[in-house]
Amino acid sequence: MSIVGIVSMKGGVGKTSTTANLAAALASNLGPNHISVVDLDPQNALHWHFGINDKKLGVCKNAVMGANIGDVSVESQYGILCLPYGRFNETDREAFEHLLSHDAGWLGEQLEEAGIGDGGIVLVDVPPGPSVYLKQIFACADLILIVLLADAGSYATVPAMESWLKDMSVLRPKLDSYYVLNQVDKSQILNRDVTELLQHHLGSRISPISIHLDEAVREALAFRQPVVVYSPQGKASADMTQLAAWLIEKLNQ
Ligand SMILES: Nc1ncnc2c1ncn2[C@@H]1O[C@H](COP(=O)(O)OP(=O)(O)O)[C@@H](O)[C@H]1O
Ligand SMILES: [Mg+2]
Repeated sequence: MSIVGIVSMKGGVGKTSTTANLAAALASNLGPNHISVVDLDPQNALHWHFGINDKKLGVCKNAVMGANIGDVSVESQYGILCLPYGRFNETDREAFEHLLSHDAGWLGEQLEEAGIGDGGIVLVDVPPGPSVYLKQIFACADLILIVLLADAGSYATVPAMESWLKDMSVLRPKLDSYYVLNQVDKSQILNRDVTELLQHHLGSRISPISIHLDEAVREALAFRQPVVVYSPQGKASADMTQLAAWLIEKLNQ
């Protein structure tokens, strides 16, 4: 099993979209029943991308009840196993975050116990910025993908991310992390300039595949489908296919 965390310091950069669309591209590459996605973000939006109806019980409430994470998995029509964060009230969320803050290895242990991702890849979506959720993924991930927009706002978050990675490297010295640019539009001068600046600054730590700004990503979400299904010939789908192949190669190294 390989665990990949999809993270960022800033919200709204495309973490959840990338988690869902990359999962679907990975499933096209590796076949059904090899890919799982875990929603560790209280926004509880990941299942929406797969057209899965919101069940009341998800990862959060289930954990508070002391049950195993595997109990909330839902098989999507795209051959991807989805574990939604689920609905919760404030007491549930506080209890869940308390549990996570006192057991740094909770996620890794739960996934292993449930056999989630056996022989395959698990993608985990987390909220933006430092949190108990981010710490969980740093504790068990094999690789971290940091999603960035090619704008000044995202550029400004790179030092904070790097500092977090440095702090975490005490616990996980060999953990690989790569930046992925999302919503790239080379027709915009600022977008082009920031892309070049980030490529120069981050060198080989930036993925060679960027994701284009593509309206089909937003439309696919409205239709509750992964973009590779909704618009297989589109730019974002081609990027996701390439990103999936690149990720498989990295995980096999
Ligand atoms: N490559 C893209 N092209 C166009 N729109 C995108 C792209 N990636 C994400 N979006 C849109 O940006 C918004 C934020 O994406 P989301 O995945 O929810 O971000 P996050 O999880 O980081 O908060 C959504 O409306 C999504 O459809
Ligand atoms: Mg999100």
